[in-house]
Amino acid sequence: MTTGTTLDDYTDRYARRTRGMTASEIRALFSVANRPEVVSLAGGSPYVAALPLDAVGAMLGTLGSVHGASSLQYGIGQGDATLRERICDVMTLSGIDVSNGASPDDVVVTVGGQQAIDLICRVFLDPGDVVLAEGPSYVGALGVFQAAEADVVHVPMDDNGLIPAALSEAIATVTRAGKRAKFLYTVPAHQNPAGVTLPDARRDEILAICQAAGLLIVEDDPYGLLGFDGENGGDGKPLPAFRARAREGVIYVSTFSKTFAPGLRVGWILAPPAVREKLVIASEAQILCPSAFAQAAVATYIDTMPWRQQLKTFREVYRERRDVALLALGDLMPAGTRWTVPSGGFYIWLTLPDGLHSKDMLPRAIAERVAYVPGTGFYADGSGGAHLRLCYSFPPPERIREGVRRLAAVIEHEMAVRSVFGVAASPSFEGTIRWAPTDQPPRRFRTADTPGPETP
Ligand SMILES: Cc1ncc(COP(=O)(O)O)c(C=O)c1O
Repeated sequence: MTTGTTLDDYTDRYARRTRGMTASEIRALFSVANRPEVVSLAGGSPYVAALPLDAVGAMLGTLGSVHGASSLQYGIGQGDATLRERICDVMTLSGIDVSNGASPDDVVVTVGGQQAIDLICRVFLDPGDVVLAEGPSYVGALGVFQAAEADVVHVPMDDNGLIPAALSEAIATVTRAGKRAKFLYTVPAHQNPAGVTLPDARRDEILAICQAAGLLIVEDDPYGLLGFDGENGGDGKPLPAFRARAREGVIYVSTFSKTFAPGLRVGWILAPPAVREKLVIASEAQILCPSAFAQAAVATYIDTMPWRQQLKTFREVYRERRDVALLALGDLMPAGTRWTVPSGGFYIWLTLPDGLHSKDMLPRAIAERVAYVPGTGFYADGSGGAHLRLCYSFPPPERIREGVRRLAAVIEHEMAVRSVFGVAASPSFEGTIRWAPTDQPPRRFRTADTPGPETP
Protein backbone atom coordinates (compact mmCIF):
# COMPACT_ATOMS: atom_id res chain seq x y z
CA MET A 1 0.00 0.00 0.00
CA THR A 2 2.85 2.42 0.71
CA THR A 3 4.50 4.20 -2.18
CA GLY A 4 7.51 5.65 -0.38
CA THR A 5 10.10 4.36 2.02
CA THR A 6 8.10 5.41 5.06
CA LEU A 7 6.31 3.03 7.39
CA ASP A 8 3.22 5.24 7.20
CA ASP A 9 0.52 3.27 5.35
CA TYR A 10 -1.47 6.41 4.60
CA THR A 11 1.21 8.37 2.74
CA ASP A 12 -0.45 8.24 -0.67
CA ARG A 13 -3.77 9.46 0.68
CA TYR A 14 -2.73 12.62 2.49
CA ALA A 15 -3.71 16.04 1.16
CA ARG A 16 -0.99 18.08 -0.51
CA ARG A 17 -1.03 20.60 2.31
CA THR A 18 0.31 18.00 4.75
CA ARG A 19 3.63 17.76 2.92
CA GLY A 20 5.48 20.15 5.22
CA MET A 21 3.85 18.66 8.33
CA THR A 22 6.80 16.60 9.49
CA ALA A 23 7.76 16.29 13.12
CA SER A 24 11.01 18.20 13.10
CA GLU A 25 14.14 17.08 14.87
CA ILE A 26 13.78 20.27 16.89
CA ARG A 27 10.55 18.94 18.33
CA ALA A 28 12.34 15.77 19.38
CA LEU A 29 15.01 17.83 21.11
CA PHE A 30 12.38 19.83 22.95
CA SER A 31 11.00 16.70 24.56
CA VAL A 32 14.40 16.51 26.27
CA ALA A 33 14.41 20.27 26.86
CA ASN A 34 11.37 19.96 29.10
CA ARG A 35 13.38 18.06 31.71
CA PRO A 36 13.80 20.03 34.94
CA GLU A 37 17.61 20.18 34.70
CA VAL A 38 17.36 22.05 31.39
CA VAL A 39 16.90 25.84 31.52
CA SER A 40 14.40 26.43 28.76
CA LEU A 41 14.65 29.82 27.12
CA ALA A 42 12.65 28.29 24.27
CA GLY A 43 8.84 28.16 24.64
CA GLY A 44 6.90 31.44 24.82
CA SER A 45 4.79 30.62 27.87
CA PRO A 46 3.46 33.44 30.02
CA TYR A 47 4.17 33.35 33.75
CA VAL A 48 0.60 32.54 34.80
CA ALA A 49 1.73 32.00 38.39
CA ALA A 50 1.78 35.82 38.61
CA LEU A 51 -2.03 35.70 38.53
CA PRO A 52 -3.90 35.61 41.85
CA LEU A 53 -4.56 31.92 41.29
CA ASP A 54 -6.79 31.43 44.33
CA ALA A 55 -9.03 34.32 43.33
CA VAL A 56 -9.12 33.20 39.70
CA GLY A 57 -9.91 29.66 40.84
CA ALA A 58 -12.75 30.92 43.04
CA MET A 59 -14.06 33.04 40.16
CA LEU A 60 -14.01 30.00 37.84
CA GLY A 61 -15.81 27.99 40.53
CA THR A 62 -18.71 30.41 40.55
CA LEU A 63 -19.22 30.43 36.77
CA GLY A 64 -21.67 27.55 36.74
CA SER A 65 -23.88 29.05 39.46
CA VAL A 66 -23.68 32.67 38.24
CA HIS A 67 -24.04 32.03 34.51
CA GLY A 68 -26.12 28.93 35.02
CA ALA A 69 -26.46 26.49 32.19
CA SER A 70 -25.45 29.07 29.56
CA SER A 71 -21.76 28.67 30.34
CA LEU A 72 -22.09 24.94 29.62
CA GLN A 73 -24.22 25.34 26.52
CA TYR A 74 -23.43 25.97 22.82
CA GLY A 75 -23.07 29.63 22.02
CA ILE A 76 -23.16 31.65 18.80
CA GLY A 77 -20.43 31.43 16.18
CA GLN A 78 -19.39 35.07 16.46
CA GLY A 79 -18.88 34.76 20.21
CA ASP A 80 -20.67 35.97 23.31
CA ALA A 81 -22.02 39.54 23.07
CA THR A 82 -20.92 40.53 26.60
CA LEU A 83 -17.38 39.32 25.98
CA ARG A 84 -17.27 41.21 22.67
CA GLU A 85 -18.12 44.40 24.59
CA ARG A 86 -15.35 43.71 27.08
CA ILE A 87 -12.95 43.08 24.22
CA CYS A 88 -13.80 46.53 22.91
CA ASP A 89 -12.95 47.95 26.37
CA VAL A 90 -9.56 46.20 26.22
CA MET A 91 -8.86 47.48 22.70
CA THR A 92 -9.34 51.10 23.78
CA LEU A 93 -5.94 50.75 25.50
CA SER A 94 -4.44 50.30 22.04
CA GLY A 95 -6.28 53.33 20.68
CA ILE A 96 -9.00 51.25 18.99
CA ASP A 97 -12.39 52.68 19.93
CA VAL A 98 -15.66 54.12 18.64
CA SER A 99 -13.84 57.13 17.18
CA ASN A 100 -12.29 54.78 14.63
CA GLY A 101 -15.36 52.63 14.22
CA ALA A 102 -14.60 49.73 16.55
CA SER A 103 -17.78 47.97 17.58
CA PRO A 104 -18.63 44.67 19.34
CA ASP A 105 -20.60 43.83 16.18
CA ASP A 106 -17.34 43.55 14.26
CA VAL A 107 -15.53 41.39 16.78
CA VAL A 108 -15.25 37.63 16.21
CA VAL A 109 -14.22 35.62 19.26
CA THR A 110 -11.73 32.86 18.42
CA VAL A 111 -9.93 29.96 20.04
CA GLY A 112 -6.82 32.00 20.78
CA GLY A 113 -4.90 34.15 18.34
CA GLN A 114 -3.90 31.00 16.49
CA GLN A 115 -7.43 30.23 15.27
CA ALA A 116 -7.79 33.90 14.37
CA ILE A 117 -4.81 33.66 11.99
CA ASP A 118 -6.12 30.39 10.61
CA LEU A 119 -9.59 31.85 9.92
CA ILE A 120 -8.13 34.86 8.14
CA CYS A 121 -6.08 32.54 5.93
CA ARG A 122 -9.12 30.38 5.20
CA VAL A 123 -11.03 33.46 4.08
CA PHE A 124 -8.25 35.11 2.04
CA LEU A 125 -5.75 32.55 0.75
CA ASP A 126 -5.81 30.20 -2.20
CA PRO A 127 -2.85 27.88 -2.86
CA GLY A 128 0.00 29.83 -4.43
CA ASP A 129 -1.13 33.19 -3.03
CA VAL A 130 1.57 35.47 -1.71
CA VAL A 131 1.72 36.63 1.91
CA LEU A 132 4.19 39.29 3.01
CA ALA A 133 5.54 38.70 6.51
CA GLU A 134 8.30 40.07 8.65
CA GLY A 135 11.56 38.16 8.47
CA PRO A 136 11.72 36.55 11.02
CA SER A 137 8.04 35.86 11.66
CA TYR A 138 5.84 34.09 14.24
CA VAL A 139 6.29 30.34 13.77
CA GLY A 140 2.58 29.58 14.34
CA ALA A 141 1.57 31.95 11.55
CA LEU A 142 4.13 30.36 9.22
CA GLY A 143 2.53 26.99 9.95
CA VAL A 144 -0.88 28.35 8.94
CA PHE A 145 0.52 29.93 5.76
CA GLN A 146 2.10 26.60 4.92
CA ALA A 147 -1.17 24.73 5.47
CA ALA A 148 -2.85 27.27 3.17
CA GLU A 149 -0.12 26.51 0.59
CA ALA A 150 0.78 30.17 0.41
CA ASP A 151 4.11 31.59 -0.74
CA VAL A 152 5.69 33.66 2.02
CA VAL A 153 7.84 36.65 1.10
CA HIS A 154 9.78 37.83 4.12
CA VAL A 155 10.36 41.55 4.50
CA PRO A 156 13.57 42.36 6.41
CA MET A 157 13.53 44.09 9.77
CA ASP A 158 16.01 46.07 11.81
CA ASP A 159 15.98 47.09 15.45
CA ASN A 160 12.86 49.17 14.76
CA GLY A 161 10.91 46.37 13.13
CA LEU A 162 9.76 46.07 9.53
CA ILE A 163 11.73 48.35 7.21
CA PRO A 164 9.38 50.52 5.12
CA ALA A 165 11.73 50.72 2.10
CA ALA A 166 12.08 46.93 2.15
CA LEU A 167 8.30 46.62 2.20
CA SER A 168 8.00 48.83 -0.90
CA GLU A 169 10.68 46.75 -2.57
CA ALA A 170 8.90 43.50 -1.68
CA ILE A 171 5.61 44.81 -3.06
CA ALA A 172 7.37 45.83 -6.28
CA THR A 173 9.07 42.42 -6.59
CA VAL A 174 5.77 40.59 -6.17
CA THR A 175 4.10 42.92 -8.69
CA ARG A 176 6.89 42.36 -11.21
CA ALA A 177 6.28 38.62 -10.83
CA GLY A 178 2.69 39.29 -11.97
CA LYS A 179 1.23 38.64 -8.54
CA ARG A 180 -0.47 40.67 -5.85
CA ALA A 181 0.19 39.88 -2.19
CA LYS A 182 -3.03 39.07 -0.35
CA PHE A 183 -1.92 40.73 2.87
CA LEU A 184 0.95 41.86 5.05
CA TYR A 185 1.13 39.87 8.29
CA THR A 186 2.82 41.89 11.03
CA VAL A 187 3.33 41.76 14.79
CA PRO A 188 4.01 45.45 15.36
CA ALA A 189 4.67 45.46 19.11
CA HIS A 190 7.35 43.42 20.91
CA GLN A 191 7.49 41.10 17.96
CA ASN A 192 7.70 37.34 18.22
CA PRO A 193 10.51 36.33 17.73
CA ALA A 194 12.59 39.51 17.34
CA GLY A 195 11.34 41.49 20.36
CA VAL A 196 11.33 44.74 18.36
CA THR A 197 8.57 47.34 18.12
CA LEU A 198 7.54 49.55 15.21
CA PRO A 199 7.85 53.20 16.26
CA ASP A 200 5.01 55.65 15.68
CA ALA A 201 6.37 57.25 12.51
CA ARG A 202 7.18 53.90 10.92
CA ARG A 203 3.65 52.68 11.55
CA ASP A 204 2.33 55.70 9.64
CA GLU A 205 4.82 55.11 6.85
CA ILE A 206 3.95 51.42 6.54
CA LEU A 207 0.25 52.18 6.62
CA ALA A 208 0.68 54.73 3.82
CA ILE A 209 2.65 52.22 1.72
CA CYS A 210 -0.01 49.54 2.22
CA GLN A 211 -2.85 51.93 1.47
CA ALA A 212 -1.17 53.16 -1.70
CA ALA A 213 -0.63 49.56 -2.84
CA GLY A 214 -4.11 48.40 -1.78
CA LEU A 215 -2.43 45.89 0.52
CA LEU A 216 -4.44 44.55 3.45
CA ILE A 217 -2.70 44.57 6.86
CA VAL A 218 -3.23 41.68 9.25
CA GLU A 219 -2.09 43.13 12.55
CA ASP A 220 -1.36 40.47 15.20
CA ASP A 221 -1.04 42.13 18.58
CA PRO A 222 -0.71 39.70 21.51
CA TYR A 223 2.02 41.70 23.27
CA GLY A 224 0.96 45.34 22.77
CA LEU A 225 -0.23 45.72 26.37
CA LEU A 226 3.02 44.30 27.75
CA GLY A 227 5.32 47.28 27.13
CA PHE A 228 7.87 48.05 29.88
CA ASP A 229 9.46 51.32 29.02
CA GLY A 230 6.96 53.01 26.85
CA GLU A 231 6.87 56.37 25.27
CA ASN A 232 4.89 57.56 28.27
CA GLY A 233 6.77 57.10 31.49
CA GLY A 234 6.83 53.32 31.62
CA ASP A 235 3.10 52.95 32.17
CA GLY A 236 3.00 50.36 29.43
CA LYS A 237 0.52 52.33 27.34
CA PRO A 238 1.05 51.04 23.84
CA LEU A 239 1.49 53.01 20.67
CA PRO A 240 -1.75 53.28 18.72
CA ALA A 241 -2.26 50.11 16.73
CA PHE A 242 -2.52 50.15 12.91
CA ARG A 243 -6.24 49.57 13.39
CA ALA A 244 -6.41 52.75 15.52
CA ARG A 245 -4.99 54.67 12.54
CA ALA A 246 -7.26 53.20 9.86
CA ARG A 247 -10.67 51.61 10.07
CA GLU A 248 -10.45 50.07 6.59
CA GLY A 249 -7.70 47.89 5.21
CA VAL A 250 -6.65 46.50 8.61
CA ILE A 251 -7.72 43.28 10.29
CA TYR A 252 -6.78 43.31 13.95
CA VAL A 253 -6.01 40.12 15.91
CA SER A 254 -5.31 39.73 19.59
CA THR A 255 -5.64 37.25 22.43
CA PHE A 256 -6.00 36.90 26.19
CA SER A 257 -3.24 34.28 26.16
CA LYS A 258 -0.43 36.61 27.19
CA THR A 259 -2.42 39.05 29.32
CA PHE A 260 -4.57 36.55 31.19
CA ALA A 261 -4.32 32.80 30.57
CA PRO A 262 -3.46 30.78 27.44
CA GLY A 263 -5.20 27.75 28.94
CA LEU A 264 -8.57 29.37 28.30
CA ARG A 265 -7.81 29.73 24.57
CA VAL A 266 -9.69 32.99 23.96
CA GLY A 267 -8.64 35.44 21.27
CA TRP A 268 -10.40 37.66 18.80
CA ILE A 269 -10.48 39.39 15.43
CA LEU A 270 -11.77 42.89 14.70
CA ALA A 271 -12.58 43.10 11.00
CA PRO A 272 -14.54 45.29 8.58
CA PRO A 273 -18.20 44.09 8.49
CA ALA A 274 -18.04 42.21 5.16
CA VAL A 275 -14.93 40.33 6.25
CA ARG A 276 -16.34 39.69 9.71
CA GLU A 277 -19.33 37.99 8.10
CA LYS A 278 -17.09 35.56 6.22
CA LEU A 279 -14.92 34.93 9.27
CA VAL A 280 -17.97 33.93 11.32
CA ILE A 281 -19.13 31.50 8.63
CA ALA A 282 -15.61 30.03 8.39
CA SER A 283 -15.40 29.71 12.17
CA GLU A 284 -18.79 28.01 12.41
CA ALA A 285 -17.65 25.47 9.81
CA GLN A 286 -14.52 24.84 11.84
CA ILE A 287 -15.63 24.87 15.50
CA LEU A 288 -19.39 25.77 15.56
CA CYS A 289 -18.71 28.27 18.33
CA PRO A 290 -15.96 29.16 20.79
CA SER A 291 -16.18 27.66 24.28
CA ALA A 292 -19.02 29.31 26.23
CA PHE A 293 -17.29 28.44 29.49
CA ALA A 294 -13.97 30.02 28.50
CA GLN A 295 -15.73 33.13 27.22
CA ALA A 296 -17.72 33.48 30.45
CA ALA A 297 -14.46 33.07 32.38
CA VAL A 298 -12.74 35.90 30.49
CA ALA A 299 -15.77 38.23 30.64
CA THR A 300 -16.17 37.60 34.38
CA TYR A 301 -12.45 38.12 34.94
CA ILE A 302 -12.67 41.52 33.27
CA ASP A 303 -15.91 42.43 35.07
CA THR A 304 -14.95 41.37 38.56
CA MET A 305 -11.18 41.34 38.89
CA PRO A 306 -8.55 44.13 38.73
CA TRP A 307 -7.32 43.19 35.24
CA ARG A 308 -5.59 46.52 34.61
CA GLN A 309 -3.63 46.10 37.83
CA GLN A 310 -2.80 42.56 36.76
CA LEU A 311 -1.42 43.87 33.46
CA LYS A 312 0.87 46.10 35.49
CA THR A 313 1.98 43.08 37.56
CA PHE A 314 2.76 41.12 34.40
CA ARG A 315 4.71 44.06 32.99
CA GLU A 316 6.78 44.30 36.17
CA VAL A 317 7.51 40.55 36.21
CA TYR A 318 8.58 40.55 32.56
CA ARG A 319 10.56 43.77 32.84
CA GLU A 320 12.61 42.29 35.69
CA ARG A 321 13.25 39.13 33.65
CA ARG A 322 14.14 41.14 30.56
CA ASP A 323 16.62 43.17 32.63
CA VAL A 324 18.20 40.04 34.09
CA ALA A 325 18.51 38.49 30.62
CA LEU A 326 20.07 41.62 29.11
CA LEU A 327 22.50 42.04 31.99
CA ALA A 328 23.58 38.40 31.74
CA LEU A 329 24.00 38.66 27.97
CA GLY A 330 26.14 41.78 28.40
CA ASP A 331 28.25 40.13 31.11
CA LEU A 332 28.69 36.70 29.59
CA MET A 333 28.33 36.57 25.82
CA PRO A 334 31.50 36.35 23.75
CA ALA A 335 32.47 39.15 21.37
CA GLY A 336 30.68 38.97 18.04
CA THR A 337 27.34 38.02 19.58
CA ARG A 338 24.56 40.60 19.17
CA TRP A 339 21.00 40.80 20.44
CA THR A 340 17.93 43.00 20.34
CA VAL A 341 16.74 45.02 23.34
CA PRO A 342 12.98 44.50 23.73
CA SER A 343 10.85 47.28 25.20
CA GLY A 344 8.18 44.75 26.15
CA GLY A 345 6.90 41.25 25.53
CA PHE A 346 8.78 37.99 25.92
CA TYR A 347 11.60 37.72 23.37
CA ILE A 348 15.21 38.55 22.55
CA TRP A 349 16.62 37.81 19.08
CA LEU A 350 20.25 36.85 19.25
CA THR A 351 22.71 36.89 16.35
CA LEU A 352 25.58 34.42 16.67
CA PRO A 353 29.23 35.20 15.93
CA ASP A 354 30.13 34.64 12.28
CA GLY A 355 30.02 31.10 11.02
CA LEU A 356 27.94 29.59 13.84
CA HIS A 357 24.60 27.97 13.14
CA SER A 358 21.85 27.89 15.76
CA LYS A 359 20.18 24.69 14.59
CA ASP A 360 23.47 22.79 14.37
CA MET A 361 24.41 24.07 17.82
CA LEU A 362 21.14 23.05 19.50
CA PRO A 363 22.05 19.41 20.38
CA ARG A 364 25.16 20.64 22.17
CA ALA A 365 23.13 23.33 23.96
CA ILE A 366 20.61 20.75 25.13
CA ALA A 367 23.46 18.53 26.30
CA GLU A 368 24.71 21.55 28.28
CA ARG A 369 21.15 21.90 29.69
CA VAL A 370 19.97 25.06 27.98
CA ALA A 371 17.30 25.32 25.28
CA TYR A 372 16.41 28.03 22.77
CA VAL A 373 14.56 28.11 19.46
CA PRO A 374 16.86 28.21 16.40
CA GLY A 375 16.24 31.10 14.04
CA THR A 376 15.44 28.62 11.26
CA GLY A 377 11.97 28.10 12.72
CA PHE A 378 11.01 31.68 12.00
CA TYR A 379 11.70 31.79 8.28
CA ALA A 380 9.46 30.02 5.83
CA ASP A 381 12.41 28.50 3.97
CA GLY A 382 14.24 27.44 7.11
CA SER A 383 17.00 30.03 6.72
CA GLY A 384 17.89 32.27 9.68
CA GLY A 385 20.47 29.89 11.16
CA ALA A 386 22.68 32.81 12.21
CA HIS A 387 20.07 33.70 14.83
CA LEU A 388 18.16 32.23 17.74
CA ARG A 389 15.25 33.27 19.92
CA LEU A 390 15.50 33.55 23.68
CA CYS A 391 12.31 33.78 25.73
CA TYR A 392 12.63 35.17 29.25
CA SER A 393 8.95 35.21 30.31
CA PHE A 394 8.78 31.90 32.15
CA PRO A 395 11.98 30.95 34.02
CA PRO A 396 12.70 32.74 37.31
CA PRO A 397 15.48 35.35 37.14
CA GLU A 398 18.26 33.17 38.59
CA ARG A 399 17.48 30.44 36.03
CA ILE A 400 17.57 32.99 33.21
CA ARG A 401 21.07 34.04 34.24
CA GLU A 402 22.17 30.41 34.52
CA GLY A 403 20.66 29.66 31.11
CA VAL A 404 22.53 32.56 29.51
CA ARG A 405 25.74 31.40 31.23
CA ARG A 406 25.33 27.90 29.77
CA LEU A 407 24.51 29.29 26.34
CA ALA A 408 27.54 31.58 26.38
CA ALA A 409 29.74 28.56 27.19
CA VAL A 410 28.23 26.62 24.28
CA ILE A 411 28.86 29.51 21.88
CA GLU A 412 32.42 29.89 23.13
CA HIS A 413 33.03 26.18 22.63
CA GLU A 414 31.67 26.34 19.06
CA MET A 415 33.86 29.35 18.34
CA ALA A 416 36.94 27.58 19.72
CA VAL A 417 36.28 24.50 17.58
CA ARG A 418 35.77 26.72 14.60
CA SER A 419 39.00 28.61 15.15
CA VAL A 420 40.98 25.36 15.49
CA PHE A 421 39.38 23.34 12.70
CA GLY A 422 38.01 26.13 10.53
CA VAL A 423 34.45 24.84 10.87
CA ALA A 424 31.85 24.86 13.61
CA ALA A 425 31.67 21.79 15.89
CA SER A 426 28.62 20.59 14.03
CA PRO A 427 28.22 20.97 10.25
CA SER A 428 26.89 24.37 9.27
CA PHE A 429 25.13 25.41 6.11
CA GLU A 430 24.99 28.47 3.93
CA GLY A 431 22.15 30.71 3.02
CA THR A 432 20.85 32.62 6.01
CA ILE A 433 18.53 35.53 5.36
CA ARG A 434 19.82 38.81 6.73
CA TRP A 435 18.38 40.47 9.78
CA ALA A 436 19.03 43.83 8.20
CA PRO A 437 18.35 44.50 4.52
CA THR A 438 20.91 44.03 1.80
CA ASP A 439 20.74 44.95 -1.85
CA GLN A 440 19.35 41.50 -2.59
CA PRO A 441 15.66 41.39 -3.55
CA PRO A 442 13.39 39.57 -1.09
CA ARG A 443 13.25 35.82 -1.68
CA ARG A 444 10.20 33.78 -2.56
CA PHE A 445 9.73 30.28 -1.33
CA ARG A 446 7.41 27.67 -0.06
CA THR A 447 7.31 27.02 3.65
CA ALA A 448 9.63 24.45 5.20
CA ASP A 449 9.52 22.58 8.46
CA THR A 450 8.80 24.60 11.56
CA PRO A 451 9.01 23.71 15.23
CA GLY A 452 5.85 22.48 16.87
CA PRO A 453 3.31 24.21 19.10
CA GLU A 454 5.59 24.00 22.13
CA THR A 455 7.37 27.06 20.74
CA PRO A 456 4.60 29.67 20.44
C1 LIG B 1 2.56 36.65 17.51
C2 LIG B 1 1.65 35.61 18.04
N1 LIG B 1 0.45 35.45 17.49
C3 LIG B 1 -0.40 34.52 17.93
C4 LIG B 1 -0.07 33.69 18.97
C5 LIG B 1 -1.03 32.62 19.39
O1 LIG B 1 -1.67 32.97 20.56
P1 LIG B 1 -2.76 32.06 21.24
O2 LIG B 1 -2.09 31.32 22.33
O3 LIG B 1 -3.78 33.02 21.72
O4 LIG B 1 -3.33 31.15 20.20
C6 LIG B 1 1.18 33.82 19.59
C7 LIG B 1 1.58 32.93 20.69
O5 LIG B 1 2.70 32.89 21.11
C8 LIG B 1 2.05 34.82 19.12
O6 LIG B 1 3.26 35.02 19.67
